[in-house]
Amino acid sequence: TELSRIRNFSIIAHIDHGKSTLADRFIQVCGGLTNREMAEQVLDSMDLERERGITIKAQSVTLNYKARDGVEYKLNFIDTPGHVDFSYEVSRSLFACEGALLVVDAGQGVEAQSVANCYTAIEQGLEVVPVLNKMDLPQAEPDRVSQEIEDIIGIEATDAVRCSAKSGMGVEDVLEDLIKRIPPPEGDENAPLQALIIDSWFDNYLGVVSLVRVRQGVLRKGDKIQIKSTGKAWNADKVGIFTPKPTETGELGTGEVGFVVAGIKDIHGAPVGDTIVSNKFADETPQIPGFKKVKPQVYAGLFPVSSDDYEEFRDALSKLTLNDASLFFEPENSDALGFGFRCGFLGMLHMEIIQERLEREYNIDLITTAPTVVYEVVTRNGETITVSNPSSLPDVGSIEEMREPIVEASILVPQEYLGNVIALCEEKRGVQTNMLFLANQVQLTYELPMAEVVLDFFDRIKSASRGFASLDYHFKRFQTANLVRLDVLINGERVDALALIVHREQSHYRGRALIDKMKELIPRQMFDIAIQASIGNQVVARVTVKALRKNVTAKCYGGDVSRKKKLLQKQKEGKKRMKQLGNVEVPQEAFLAVLKVD
Ligand code: GTP
Repeated sequence: TELSRIRNFSIIAHIDHGKSTLADRFIQVCGGLTNREMAEQVLDSMDLERERGITIKAQSVTLNYKARDGVEYKLNFIDTPGHVDFSYEVSRSLFACEGALLVVDAGQGVEAQSVANCYTAIEQGLEVVPVLNKMDLPQAEPDRVSQEIEDIIGIEATDAVRCSAKSGMGVEDVLEDLIKRIPPPEGDENAPLQALIIDSWFDNYLGVVSLVRVRQGVLRKGDKIQIKSTGKAWNADKVGIFTPKPTETGELGTGEVGFVVAGIKDIHGAPVGDTIVSNKFADETPQIPGFKKVKPQVYAGLFPVSSDDYEEFRDALSKLTLNDASLFFEPENSDALGFGFRCGFLGMLHMEIIQERLEREYNIDLITTAPTVVYEVVTRNGETITVSNPSSLPDVGSIEEMREPIVEASILVPQEYLGNVIALCEEKRGVQTNMLFLANQVQLTYELPMAEVVLDFFDRIKSASRGFASLDYHFKRFQTANLVRLDVLINGERVDALALIVHREQSHYRGRALIDKMKELIPRQMFDIAIQASIGNQVVARVTVKALRKNVTAKCYGGDVSRKKKLLQKQKEGKKRMKQLGNVEVPQEAFLAVLKVD
């Protein structure tokens, strides 16, 4: 295809502003699928994505659109995830495009994550085309929202296309505007092959499938290719596009987007962000710049409730990493919980999704320990180590200095909730670095400890602003901090899986709040249970869960056997996610109690 007839674009949109619905409309307008095939949103392919209504992995679709000027254009739409945990994948997808549609719900206005993604797009030289969606709703305020786009993002938006992805109104105008404003790709078709890997995933039949954008040259079926960072050579067995059904075309020209299958068995062999080159010209074709590895931000221990599930659990994790290069795991052994794995995630949502998939798709009951960020510790003998597990923190005596990760957070909040949100940021040890008053919203910039942000900050900000504030953040640097390890003892025994790293000033308060929460969560048993919080050898708080006086079944009048059975059955189910610590039964919630402390 001639370059002038190709357009490569992404959609930047906040969750729920209608990206998937609009994408489905595009597919419909361009005739990619029958109405019956359209019945379901096609781009969000994983069950879990559909259920939670969020997009997790990048996908693409090639559309043939006959424009009003009579020319048929090839539109490559590269989908992007909508959640802050996955912003790395967003920037990868943007890297493969010349432009992006910024879709904003005309009844809501601009949200922080979209702003951050727009800045990334603009920095990468993309043309950002604003679109006002949900115009069918009575609460739509297109003028106000256009003004907001201009104020916050700084792009012209007065003549932004207004549409309704739901009714279909204005959808073709969006495509026309896109063709006019987004430039076609550039690149030399005769140069040696250079292609960017936008995404890779594992397919049971084909092995690794990679979504690529050809920067220069042509990728043909049968070519000997090389993955730049690994230096390994492969044979391009299948080359094609998604329409959205995978369709072999035998080649991808300069500027085009599609898939390649090359017999690679492991996604680490075709990393996202890497470059594919022709094996023959591998030495003189450089890596496409900007390639960096994703690093997990949050770590937690995952332990099977039943130790019989350990092998199965390991297999499940291996399978999940086949499709998710950002999921990290290594064996961990806990005195309290036995054998399990230390897992690294991009953020809390990522963690919840993985946990849910393990339980649902693989049927494994898990105990998850409190998530923690990665700390830097300088020891007395001058070594710098990273610690992603509180129980592996060296002795206080051998620590010279501890450093915690700091993020830069950008928050957009309507003026009426500004006070609440500032108070919350201060409570979380935030330092304000900027505040900008815009049309209706205020843009706040804070530096905050990552540990405070990853846990419940997002939910707290939402509730402090009745859902109107939005948040985006990224890692900034490590900073010296006065941190200590807070231990929890149950009946005098230190439970390694319950240890936390906290700020010294907050340690007493946190310890108290944590064990109070645990007291509510640990059911009463046949004996008293003492729960203590300690720092080093000093106990900072203590509570007791009093012994039960009566048998639970005693309150069912003797005769009703079926009712008694039911109650016992219920207890058995409730037991599934309990863990025996010494002679005390502790439910899963107790391990995550720290998430519920405010
Ligand atoms: P992510 O995939 O998580 O990024 O969300 P999304 O932005 O793709 O949102 P989605 O397309 O799933 O739409 C969210 C909700 O808004 C759905 O319930 C849609 O039916 C609804 N919706 C989308 N577009 C419109 C519209 O133009 N008008 C109205 N009234 N509702 C819409």
